[in-house]
Amino acid sequence: MPARPRVAVPRFESVMTTPVERLSNLVVGSVESVSPSEVRVLLELDAPNATALNTGTPVPFPRLNGYVLIPNEAGATVAYIAWIGIERSPFPKRSGLKDFGLVDLPFPLRKMFVSPVGTLTSRRDPASGLTKYELSRGVVAFPSLGDQVLLPTPEQIEAIVGTDDTDRRVRIGSSPLASNATIMVDPDKLFGRHLAVLGNTGSGKSCTVAGLIRWSIEAAEKAIKEMGKSGVPNARFIVLDPNGEYATAFADRGEKLRLFRVPPIAAGERPLDVPAWLWNGHEWTAVAHAQPGAQRPLLMQGLRELKSGQMEGVPRTAMIRRYLISYSTRISAMLNSGTIAFAGGARQRFECARLLQSIAGDCAQFAGETEDPASAALATLSETATQVVDNRKSGNYFNDFAVSDLESVRNPLNELAQTLPDLGNTASINEDEPTFFDVNMLAEHLERVATEQGGNLAGFISTLGLRIRGMLADTRLGAVIARHPPTSFDSWLNDYVGSDGASNGPIAVVDLSLVPSEVVHIVVSVLARLIFESVQRYRRCHSEGRPLPTVLVLEEAHTFIRRSKDDEGPAITAAQLCRETFERIAREGRKYGLGLVLSSQRPSELSPTALAQCNTFLLHRIVNDADQNLVARLVPDNVSGLLRELPSLPSRQAILLGWATPIPVLLEMDELPYEQRPRSADPDFWDVWTLAKERSVDWVAISKDWSGNKKE
Ligand SMILES: Nc1ncnc2c1ncn2[C@@H]1O[C@H](COP(=O)(O)OP(=O)(O)O)[C@@H](O)[C@H]1O
Ligand SMILES: [Mg+2]
Repeated sequence: MPARPRVAVPRFESVMTTPVERLSNLVVGSVESVSPSEVRVLLELDAPNATALNTGTPVPFPRLNGYVLIPNEAGATVAYIAWIGIERSPFPKRSGLKDFGLVDLPFPLRKMFVSPVGTLTSRRDPASGLTKYELSRGVVAFPSLGDQVLLPTPEQIEAIVGTDDTDRRVRIGSSPLASNATIMVDPDKLFGRHLAVLGNTGSGKSCTVAGLIRWSIEAAEKAIKEMGKSGVPNARFIVLDPNGEYATAFADRGEKLRLFRVPPIAAGERPLDVPAWLWNGHEWTAVAHAQPGAQRPLLMQGLRELKSGQMEGVPRTAMIRRYLISYSTRISAMLNSGTIAFAGGARQRFECARLLQSIAGDCAQFAGETEDPASAALATLSETATQVVDNRKSGNYFNDFAVSDLESVRNPLNELAQTLPDLGNTASINEDEPTFFDVNMLAEHLERVATEQGGNLAGFISTLGLRIRGMLADTRLGAVIARHPPTSFDSWLNDYVGSDGASNGPIAVVDLSLVPSEVVHIVVSVLARLIFESVQRYRRCHSEGRPLPTVLVLEEAHTFIRRSKDDEGPAITAAQLCRETFERIAREGRKYGLGLVLSSQRPSELSPTALAQCNTFLLHRIVNDADQNLVARLVPDNVSGLLRELPSLPSRQAILLGWATPIPVLLEMDELPYEQRPRSADPDFWDVWTLAKERSVDWVAISKDWSGNKKE
């Protein structure tokens, strides 16, 4: 390695022409080798060892992830320090007299590897005469060998971390490696394209999320005041909170915090309300574990009928018409299945006979319930069907049925059905429509439809009915899904998505901690879908098609948006449904102004689809190997070195990267005072053991509360 003469003079000669050159006493090293991802730098002998005072403010140097500048024709390439070390060199970097008779001992040379991440350009602001710096993504020109490496000045640091960008309106923290420069973010970017906050338990995710919400709203309040306007920020943050930590964090908002909890509730809280009548067909299918074959269509039919509200007033003949049509369809299906059904085995013959017998039985009964001419026709039909079966009967067995046998029953069935009145608009109502119906009637109604349709449906449906009844009977769950009296749909939207102008407060916290675990997925899924569909409808109904900016926060995202497994069966489960809902929001939410904030300690278990749609990441400490690898795959190659610091980040520190920042920055989140922190409350064993904290036990009261028996 050739020793570069250490001649400082020429650097100072071309002084004071460009700002970059003026700062030449900030030189800390020179470029030794260059590759797209890594630049090696030889540090000057007099470069700082621990703290650099060169810039006027002390900055730690050299430090991993600190920034350096490499000036070039386009401005300066910004790079962060990825490695620092010492290499022993036989050629000392020696100034002064060279005596070639001397034998040099290996000499320690300090080196560092830096990764180029962006470009800093400068321009003179004509108004103030000051130099303004601007950071852009990407590297315009790679450094060349021998290029000087500089420490950035405080102004340059501010430009790098974006303090002076006017769109960055919300302060979230400071940069410990960049002279504590303020870190600001642009809320449009941060929330507009989904944010993932990842890190181990206790690394500071919840505080970060609570801080982002709080600081955003406070910044908006301040901006409103500064513009001389009155009013509150028209902001919407909806926090789905499985650990029940956020209530305390926003308690200072008082009335303006909409806090939803599973009843019984305390004063100032609202009952969690996820009305079952708002569930769509998919959600019902998942909750009731309705099987695709018979149960699912029946369930959908039951929902449609109840939602159409016509069950009570339906004329009997209309119901009969439906049965006739369904029988006719079943006969046709049998005919279409070919000769097997007739010349086929004993089982097919038996099924055919059973169908005809139930037609005969039902029609005889219907005949008694109607008036002529339908009554007479039904009686004839019943006789025909009986006759056909009797003709083919031989002892306990049946001979082959002929096609004409079945047609002789089906054709009059069809003809008669034409003469009976239609059920009206039952078919036009969709099972997904948010129309109120009495959920308590559903189980019974399904059973009625099943028995009426005959076959073995009744058996199928009784387990379904049991499940639905069980859910409604559960004290906690029943209160959540079938509130009495029911909330109207618009007041539900007011509560959860927020009213006009966010007059009922910008934050809704949905405390899911007491929702029974077997239904928490469906509750989250329904909430998320309704919020998504409401902003979708909002944009559709807005006169200019503008979206309603809304942020949906999901804590413990890995439990709700779990990566899909190969062994999932055909029946859709609530967990799958939940994942699909969030994947859809991740894909399409942006169009409708719905931003996601996903917080998770197991990113490797999160659905890759959802994660891939997140454009900004706030990475806290991540120790686990699988999670680190996953995160490394999400970011471009040249910053992967930065992520090596992830396992050692102290709480409150995080790496911000992605859409909301031109280059990745390590930042320390601003401190939240104790009372504004989400309270997940680490257990305080010692204080309780040593009686420093009171913890009395009353199992009587607890067991009563548990069993839902509050009365003395
Ligand atoms: N911004 C912050 N301000 C103050 N304390 C913080 C901050 N971030 C983290 N902490 C501390 O770290 C602890 C764990 O943070 P928390 O947000 O609950 O982590 P996580 O949600 O990742 O489990 C908190 O109890 C708090 O003491
Ligand atoms: Mg947490």
